[in-house]
Amino acid sequence: MNKLILLGPPGAGKGTQADLICDYLSIPKISTGDMLREAIASGSELGKRVSGVLSSGALVSDEIIGSIIVDRIQKDDCKNGFLFDGVPRTIGQATMLVDMNVAFSHVIEIQVNDQVILDRMSGRRFHIASGRSYHIEFNPPKNEGIDDITGEDLVQRDDDKPETVSKRLDVYHEETKPLSEFYNQKSNSNELVYFKVDGAGSVESVFESIKANL
Ligand code: AP5
Repeated sequence: MNKLILLGPPGAGKGTQADLICDYLSIPKISTGDMLREAIASGSELGKRVSGVLSSGALVSDEIIGSIIVDRIQKDDCKNGFLFDGVPRTIGQATMLVDMNVAFSHVIEIQVNDQVILDRMSGRRFHIASGRSYHIEFNPPKNEGIDDITGEDLVQRDDDKPETVSKRLDVYHEETKPLSEFYNQKSNSNELVYFKVDGAGSVESVFESIKANL
């Protein structure tokens, strides 16, 4: 069964590739970032608790992430697999998934250097409800400022300001990058397939590299 994790720094193109992979494999995308943004937009208790954390560029606690994942993977659409986009994000979350007996078939790491990311984020436009992201130059919508599928307005994310992106990159290097070694070891013991792709090429070429490895 296809159970995948997409790792990579903020702005590496995880959300963009996640949509393509999920279409290709007919599995749902589980993005904790999208779920947290939906909670904020709905004004729920959870949304109120995490709103300041997201806009500061820090990470939400492992406990909160654990509770939203547990509910999500029990839904019917996850019976034939799923893709985790942006989760796990810490060794604590990865260990939690092991304790929950969630085993993965593939871990894909998208590698992009920090400068490319800073350049990309300033041009990102986002459809909050679906998590679809566009870029005004590299991946534009058919009509400027409008989501291709729903026709709704696109926005700039609060956490895409350059100073917040820098903070998110620091958090990534400190807390998330150690997951490469965590999953590399699991790959060495044949528990899953772990591979890296260069995320600096076009959206299409990155997707071709991923497909070639799946
Ligand atoms: P989350 O939503 O997961 O954000 P992220 O990991 O920082 O990733 P992004 O969504 O910013 O980028 P992406 O890699 O998906 O890139 P995209 O495809 O959009 O998390 C947000 C926050 O929520 C976190 O900071 C944290 O506070 C909290 N959170 C979420 N999960 C958590 C967890 N598990 N634990 C704790 N806290 C958590 O692409 C970026 C741009 O580049 C777009 O404009 C796109 O069009 C463009 N682009 C994509 N690919 C290419 C390409 N190949 N060439 C040129 N441009 C490209």
